[in-house]
Amino acid sequence: MRVQVRCAGSLLVALLAIAPAAWGAVVRSPDGRIAVTVDVDKDGIPQYSASYRGVEIMPAGKLGLRFQSQPAMDAGFRVAGTATASHDATWEQPWGERRFVRDHHQELRVDFESTTDVARRFSLRLRVFDDGFGFRYEVPAQPGYDGAVNITDEVTEFRLDDQPATTAWWIPGRRWNRYEYLYNTTPLAEIQMAHTPMTVRLPSGVHLSFHEAALVDYTAYVLDQRRPGIFRTSLTPWSDGIRVKTRTPFKTPWRTVQVAPNAAALLNSSLILNLNEPNVLGDVSWVVPGKYVGIWWAMHINQATWSTGPRHGATTEAAKHYIDFAAQHGFAGVLVEGWNVGWDGDWFFNGKQFRFTESNPDFDLKAVTDYARSKGVRLVGHHETAADVGNYEPQMAAAFDLYESVGVRQVKTGYVADAGDIRRLDEHGVELREWHDGQFTIDHHLRVLREAARRRISINTHEPVKDTGLRRTYPNWLTREGARGQEYNAWGKPVNPPEHVAILPYTRLLSGPMDYTPGIVDLDGYDPKHRVPHTLAKELSLYVVLYSPVQMAADLPENYLKRPDALQFIKDVAVDWDESIALAGEVGDYVAIARKQRGAPDWFVGALTDENPRSLALPLGFLEPGRRYIAEIYRDGPQADWQTRPYDLVVEQRLVTAADTLELRLASSGGAAIRLRPAP
Ligand code: NOJ
Ligand code: CA
Repeated sequence: MRVQVRCAGSLLVALLAIAPAAWGAVVRSPDGRIAVTVDVDKDGIPQYSASYRGVEIMPAGKLGLRFQSQPAMDAGFRVAGTATASHDATWEQPWGERRFVRDHHQELRVDFESTTDVARRFSLRLRVFDDGFGFRYEVPAQPGYDGAVNITDEVTEFRLDDQPATTAWWIPGRRWNRYEYLYNTTPLAEIQMAHTPMTVRLPSGVHLSFHEAALVDYTAYVLDQRRPGIFRTSLTPWSDGIRVKTRTPFKTPWRTVQVAPNAAALLNSSLILNLNEPNVLGDVSWVVPGKYVGIWWAMHINQATWSTGPRHGATTEAAKHYIDFAAQHGFAGVLVEGWNVGWDGDWFFNGKQFRFTESNPDFDLKAVTDYARSKGVRLVGHHETAADVGNYEPQMAAAFDLYESVGVRQVKTGYVADAGDIRRLDEHGVELREWHDGQFTIDHHLRVLREAARRRISINTHEPVKDTGLRRTYPNWLTREGARGQEYNAWGKPVNPPEHVAILPYTRLLSGPMDYTPGIVDLDGYDPKHRVPHTLAKELSLYVVLYSPVQMAADLPENYLKRPDALQFIKDVAVDWDESIALAGEVGDYVAIARKQRGAPDWFVGALTDENPRSLALPLGFLEPGRRYIAEIYRDGPQADWQTRPYDLVVEQRLVTAADTLELRLASSGGAAIRLRPAP
């Protein structure tokens, strides 16, 4: 009886008749390993559960939405129908960690219909891939829900068994420092609110990562552990308390769960990109990956200032010095921070004073960009807003016009402020404060991207909203920050510990590229508390491990000139890839990744470890069979140790083939960076 009540589709009735034990609508990944079941419970609450290789990994979690002025869609439903589809296609990225991405999934749409007196309906669209699954709500226009609707809550649950042997890697959600926290490694019980991606290892060794894809026209969520093992989507609110302001029909972003048999496999997932819409910008040949240097680290180590005065960093003269260095060593861009009016005084709390088209007296934008052009280098622009979007947006068009007119192709934006302190002006001119991951700011980022795209400019966002794969739809969104980056090694209290970059690949980087700004070669010397907690070889490995299509060579030119050996790798390493393969790793312990340079036969390998030294044996089976390669290896020397001998770097060459295994010894907080180029 129950089967007939729930299932309108005759095909499904037939299937269930064959397999009477089946419960709800089930969809499996193409390889059959992941199965997701969708149904309603006895109260008509929509719910889903997931299994991997026949073992339940996520018990039934609830689904639903609540509204300000309409009846909630969270209980009193039946399954009115289902539809399935399968999809297998390969698409090409204009730039990326791999050129071709296979989107192979099975889809299930489940239509829910009210069983109460109140007519309500919505659908859940679920896609199951070999590397995980995603689902979204689709709410059609319907009587009672016409036009504008305000969402006050989403009650999606991600359920896990709260076992002490389950480990989570997470940063706290909705706290003042946005995503810039050290990762916690704890049992589930210690989590209250966590940002996504949040990654867990189940006692079986299966790894899961929870996140979302295609975050547009909606607000972000943090995971709120309401009861042991039950994480609910807590939507980031607007300043008036509403979570999402939308209109029917609407779709939510995809709620995603990446599933992998081990930690390294998690890194090979393309789930987030596959759940985003294709490029809407058309020809994006003007979006160009590359490396840059800049007037940046000098301010972070307090050798120069953003504000004007005797130590002002952004002078015409200093910019020309960096341009000379970039031209001589093949860096495409020079970032200059602090050239425009607004950095004086307490700018952190006074974003209103920023003028995005007015130079300080000691900086001549035209002279600098003319000089850069004559040397084949481009200025990388900067828009620090101090989160005063109300001040920035009216200036934005003119600011991008100016950069376009002087040949700038990339702009770094910044939203420095405590979380929740994004300033905007409402229609009456009243100043309101919004979250960095709230719907207002999410919309703002798209306005920036479109404004920039019209002028063929690409964006690198700092203090951003988390990445959800929108680079597929807007390929001019090159990279962003959104975690503790290198700057914390200059002034963080404390600096990033050695394990930090052994956690980032498995958490923050699962969401997309990060402008971490690697490549510090003068690892100490600012003050005893602030040094880079890596060996030099590990610092080089970051160029391969932490994917970003634009990578900074973050140190001062004079420091690079003292380390020509390390500089050589930074000059050689690619930033755009045909393929990326995670070779080995454990979250928080170590990672090894191989990447093939886009349009060239060279491969690069990056490997790094936390504070524990370790040996790795990396089979080179990814190389072209039968071809001989010269491996240029930058590795920790015999004495290397991040605390006592961080500069002990050995550079050596070996002849290798795909049949070889590379034995690497990584020091305490050490690493290895390798270029493999075909032997002549
Ligand atoms: C924070 C950014 O992460 C950093 O890169 C930048 O230098 C400062 N804000 C100033 O804009
Ligand atoms: Ca920052």
